[in-house]
Amino acid sequence: MSRFHALIPAAGSGSRMGGERPKQYLELNGVPLIAHALSALAREPRVDRLVVVLSPDDAWWDNYDWSAWQERLQVLRCGGAARAGTVLNGLEAMAGWCAADDWVLVHDAARPCLPAGALGRLLDIAAHDPVGGLLAVPVADTLKRADPDCRVEVTVPRAGLWQAQTPQMFRHGMLRDALCAAASDMTDEASAIEQLGLRPKLVESDSRNLKVTYPQDLRLASLILEHLHD
Ligand code: C5P
Repeated sequence: MSRFHALIPAAGSGSRMGGERPKQYLELNGVPLIAHALSALAREPRVDRLVVVLSPDDAWWDNYDWSAWQERLQVLRCGGAARAGTVLNGLEAMAGWCAADDWVLVHDAARPCLPAGALGRLLDIAAHDPVGGLLAVPVADTLKRADPDCRVEVTVPRAGLWQAQTPQMFRHGMLRDALCAAASDMTDEASAIEQLGLRPKLVESDSRNLKVTYPQDLRLASLILEHLHD
């Protein structure tokens, strides 16, 4: 039986947030964002191990108590210059104990409000898919492509467009091969899989699973967390 593992790339600097503290350590209700992400993943009993990939010079992790997840948690300090490199380094380090057909759920450290229902749905659906899949939301707004002067060049029809979220769930061996072959600037794992000519399954999520990117997102995430388990 294939197992499920979570891999949380947490080696980014979060430059769009401004400030010195890396985004994954920004506190939301007194707890760093990455701890919220870990809690959400740990609540799913089918997830076996929680693997966190930090930057080699991370100076923040040791300031917190992670004992709540002690047995399931593995911390690696092998993050790369870009997200794809961080994930690939994590997968390489997992290879000693993780089977090639085990599922790996890659989840952003900066997504603190992952609903349990969406995570469960991803596991239910993607585990029966030959490729794997990702949480995503159908695009709700009208989309404009801008020219260099910030004027509308064209309206992009939104039918059939989805906004990718995480977790993104693929088999360890397939994802490792895909990332080895991919350009280092891929912003998600599914893109690397697509470059192999494969078509990941889109599993519907919702907008509560936001990625904290700009300072105002923290307030919104705090409001969402208040009602996440209602
Ligand atoms: O910057 P962005 O919001 O796209 O980052 C998404 C996730 O990728 C975050 O969890 C961030 O810490 C991680 N990341 C990483 N290594 C990098 C850049 C980003 O682990 N070099």
